Amino acid sequence: MENRLSRPNLTPETLQTVPIERAETIPSAWYTDPAFHAWDNESIFSHHWQCAGHVSRVSRAGDYFLIDVAGNPLIVVRGKDEQVRAFYNVCRHRGGPLEVEESGCVKALQCKYHGWTYWLDGMLRGVPEFDYVQLFDRKDYGLIPVKLETWEGLIFVNLSENPAPLNDFVAGISERIAPIRLADKKFYRKVEYQIRCNWKVYVDNYLEGYHLPYVHPELNKLLDYRNYVTETFPWYSLQYSPFAGGDNLYRAEKGEAFYYFIFPNIMLNILPGRLQTNLVLPLAQDKTLVIFEYYYDDVTSPQALQIIAEDIDYSDRVQQEDIEICERVQMGLNSPAYDRGRFSVLREQGVYHFQSLLKEAYWKGISDSPKGQVGFPMGAGRIAD
Ligand code: FES
Ligand SMILES: [Fe+2]
Repeated sequence: MENRLSRPNLTPETLQTVPIERAETIPSAWYTDPAFHAWDNESIFSHHWQCAGHVSRVSRAGDYFLIDVAGNPLIVVRGKDEQVRAFYNVCRHRGGPLEVEESGCVKALQCKYHGWTYWLDGMLRGVPEFDYVQLFDRKDYGLIPVKLETWEGLIFVNLSENPAPLNDFVAGISERIAPIRLADKKFYRKVEYQIRCNWKVYVDNYLEGYHLPYVHPELNKLLDYRNYVTETFPWYSLQYSPFAGGDNLYRAEKGEAFYYFIFPNIMLNILPGRLQTNLVLPLAQDKTLVIFEYYYDDVTSPQALQIIAEDIDYSDRVQQEDIEICERVQMGLNSPAYDRGRFSVLREQGVYHFQSLLKEAYWKGISDSPKGQVGFPMGAGRIAD
């Protein structure tokens, strides 16, 4: 993933983290400079667990689906031994694609270029017309595997060779939301949004309720803004709110809403009976794909379907409000009028937490490269109180 040409200009000063009371927001160039697109893929998306999808998408042996992680084509497939694996969707012959349809069910993986075939566990099976080739052992040409773990019914992949266990990143979430069990929810629908902003603009916006009264006046009436709290953990943050009551059926019931953000780009929006995941994928410096997936306890009864339709419609209205403000913020960040701002200590702990993790990841990305970068001491850039 090394791409020195794409490395943006990062100074030790901008990578330091100081307490929120004195901290500045990250520089506008981090949202607008095209060099950061490749850098984010290299330093962040290639090193952190990425949510690939729900296990129900590969429920039978041979079921597969394709995903793109940090610009890399991957395939997730369930083997005959029931194990779910991930590989680069890249043939070892000359780089052709094994599968090209987004999902399906196959007995083996066959390259669409010259027909090499692989078993579902990645071993090379058949090589047409390869007589006379010397010093060639099929065992050496299996698919390149990618680390995969599942948690609460969600499949995560990681391009690193030796990533920390997924559980290090999500520890405590299942216990906190109990008796809700995410793994029991059933997939209902996927909705995609393309937004003209940097992915960090979308994440920042998700991480604070500060904008609720101004951007979402309707939603604000349903949530108890005074009791809206943000808690931060090593790799995730939680925004939590009891309901104030309202006209949406999910939110009208007594209950709690949990809004989790797991670094760097997955959100879990949990209401009683419902899980909505938001996956935030950078397409370019100023273009982001956000994938919403909806899961519910009940996806068949007529009464449930009515509530689901309202829930999806309501979420879409809120999302349109967020899209509009995010696209305008991107324009503001592009202007010479803005470089760095400040944080509300009361309302923007989640944004501060995300930006601190981002700085640590950038710092690590520089330190891990063979020569580091001139002027950067090794180690984290955190300044204590
Ligand atoms: S590239 Fe796959 S068979 Fe040639
Ligand atoms: Fe919002």
